[in-house]
Amino acid sequence: MSRKPVEPYRIKSVEPIQMTSREEREQILKRGGFNLFNVPADHVFVDLLTDSGTSAMSHFQWAGMMQGDESYAGARSFFRFERAIKNIFGFAHVIPTHQGRAAERVLFQTVVGPGDRVPNNIHFDTTRANVEVRDAEAVDLAPVAAYDPDDLSPFKGDMDVEKLKAMIAETDRGRIPLVMLTITNNSGGGQPVSLANIRAVSAVCRESGIPFFLDACRFAENAYFIKLREEGESSRSVLEIARDIFACADGATMSAKKDALVNIGGFLTLNDDAVAERLRNNLIVSEGFPTYGGLAGRDLEAVAQGLEEVLDEAYLEHRISQVGYLWELLHQAGVPVYSPPGGHAIYVLADRFLPHIPRDQYPGQALSVALYREAGVRTVEIGGVMFGRRDEASGRELYPELELVRLAVPRRVYTVSHLEYVADSLIALLKRRDTIKGLKITHQAPHLRHFTVRFEEIA
Ligand code: F0G
Repeated sequence: MSRKPVEPYRIKSVEPIQMTSREEREQILKRGGFNLFNVPADHVFVDLLTDSGTSAMSHFQWAGMMQGDESYAGARSFFRFERAIKNIFGFAHVIPTHQGRAAERVLFQTVVGPGDRVPNNIHFDTTRANVEVRDAEAVDLAPVAAYDPDDLSPFKGDMDVEKLKAMIAETDRGRIPLVMLTITNNSGGGQPVSLANIRAVSAVCRESGIPFFLDACRFAENAYFIKLREEGESSRSVLEIARDIFACADGATMSAKKDALVNIGGFLTLNDDAVAERLRNNLIVSEGFPTYGGLAGRDLEAVAQGLEEVLDEAYLEHRISQVGYLWELLHQAGVPVYSPPGGHAIYVLADRFLPHIPRDQYPGQALSVALYREAGVRTVEIGGVMFGRRDEASGRELYPELELVRLAVPRRVYTVSHLEYVADSLIALLKRRDTIKGLKITHQAPHLRHFTVRFEEIA
């Protein structure tokens, strides 16, 4: 077993967490229709639902918040935000939004129209939804390896460049308004994309005259993986690598709730002057004036500071090894996990964990429910519930390739002992897995159903 990752920070402010009883959790599950989004957070002991907006801020960020300039237009905090982003991303325009999906909405409402097609390695659910509400098609172009949880290739987040070329060749000219690439690939095991792949996708886009945008939520984790794993990159700084990544693209969307180490925020950044003007006009309608875009001045300060801190290599070294440590504890104990470990999360292979539960009884959700019931640990299903779709022709439900439960690790929040508690709980559950029951859907919404779906347990 690897050395335990020692946190490169100490705790100055604490937030108590409570352990509930199994009976209380049983009641909460029943009341909430076995949907963990319905569990009040006070009744969660270790919350691995998401790494988004759950980071602990540093004392520098909190100090920055006191310096927030709340002017409606031209706030000092906006200029600090803009400088911090330009320093890393290098694009001409910086447009704040309240979070990542707002950046997606503003971008796609402006440049994507009905009948268009948008490629990505694998669309995250909000990205897909924001393409589809435009009556456009979201096309995933990940290589076969991304769907193979046992393939140990170092850059399984890559886009399959041959598939991209084929898609461009078979699509009417002008029907691909942009190519997106998600770094790291959240819906594909949190796997990184190599710099070589980013360059190759960029070259195809430039040749075809198609704008290339990065979904940059976890760019620092991705850049650190490039430093660790890609030939010739180990002696370069993560900042240099990040700049190389963005130099390949025409713009980026970012949810600052991940690698900007804040609890709310996002932005769009790009080079094209005319598109930027249209984006700002769209922004004003619902997000706000272009120097705050739905955020308070203090939020802009926290993002600016967070973007500096996230590139600290001691931080990143710990971050990546913390997630790797959880993977190792589980893997060594025989818990089936997606390999190699991702940057922000571990993904349990729920269909292998629960071979007695068929896909139409949602083994991922069943596992997620069982882990909460037994240990008060909250995770999220990324499988048939999140991505299942009805086939209009046959009326049957179609399931995604992988049936996963994601254990997302919030940044700077949990210690090694929390992670060991989670691992011990899952390992104990593995031994009693035969007792876990499948689920039946009793209520669902037409879009992003996982947030509001309700279930019953199958006796
Ligand atoms: N893109 C990716 C790759 C994401 O992971 C997320 C959010 C978004 C876009 C949207 O950003 O939440 O700020 O609107 N992912 C979170 C998660 C919710 O749990 O993985 P947002």
